[in-house]
Amino acid sequence: MSAYLESNYKKVTTHVLQEMKLRGEKIAMLTAYDYSLATLLDAAGIDVILVGDSASNVMAGHKTTLPITLDQMIYHASSVMRAVERALVVVDLPFGTYQGNSKAALNSAIQIMKESGANAIKIEGGREVLESVDRILSAGIPVMGHLGLTPQSIHKFGTYVVRAKEDEEANHLREDAKLLANAGCFSIVLEKIPAKLAQEVTASIKIPTIGIGAGSQVDGQVLVLHDMLGITQKFSPRFLRRYHNLSEEIKGSVKAYIHDVKTLDFPNEREQY
Ligand code: KIV
Repeated sequence: MSAYLESNYKKVTTHVLQEMKLRGEKIAMLTAYDYSLATLLDAAGIDVILVGDSASNVMAGHKTTLPITLDQMIYHASSVMRAVERALVVVDLPFGTYQGNSKAALNSAIQIMKESGANAIKIEGGREVLESVDRILSAGIPVMGHLGLTPQSIHKFGTYVVRAKEDEEANHLREDAKLLANAGCFSIVLEKIPAKLAQEVTASIKIPTIGIGAGSQVDGQVLVLHDMLGITQKFSPRFLRRYHNLSEEIKGSVKAYIHDVKTLDFPNEREQY
């Protein structure tokens, strides 16, 4: 294994992420939506936990991230917050709670911060959400941006293919990244864009970029926990590295339990009162 930079921050804050970028230490971020898994992620030393609206897919079984509500995001975020001692916890503003209305955006962000106790919010989009970003930041709420493939706009894109391959969209993204950084966002997620573009954007702004399908030359990486653990089975984009095949392990354990119950093997003498 090659050497890597690893510091021992007691508590990860947005300032710590900035320091990590300056020191060249990569930021590791994963999603979590519940107390039990968030406890494990935090104990393992993850830097940032994203309570992503991907909960709509992996927890609730929806095809897109659009149906999840603010109250459901707050439920997930509160569960995660009860678990976490060290990681920075960022919560997605769900679809329909900020678009086109910066006052509504601020109210949604305040509700998340007040009711869940989270540390920051994430918002998808560039110039079109800038007024909302400004308003949320002016209330003292740290904001993470999200550019490239923004799943809440799936019906505009029509597909989940790589974004910003053409010059026009790439230039638009470069400008949006600068606008978000200049507005005061503490970090930006870059999703499914060419690695070279992600590298350029990362070099052009002072705040850390976190990539997903954006190559290695960004300041950190994020994956959806259920994808990297192999709990989800159908989703297999090229960027996804599976660290486990938990779906098979879970099914195997459940099958063994069913067998033991049906054959009266469980419970045995020692497992009863
Ligand atoms: O909701 C989510 O999980 C996300 C990540 C994929 C970045 O936004």
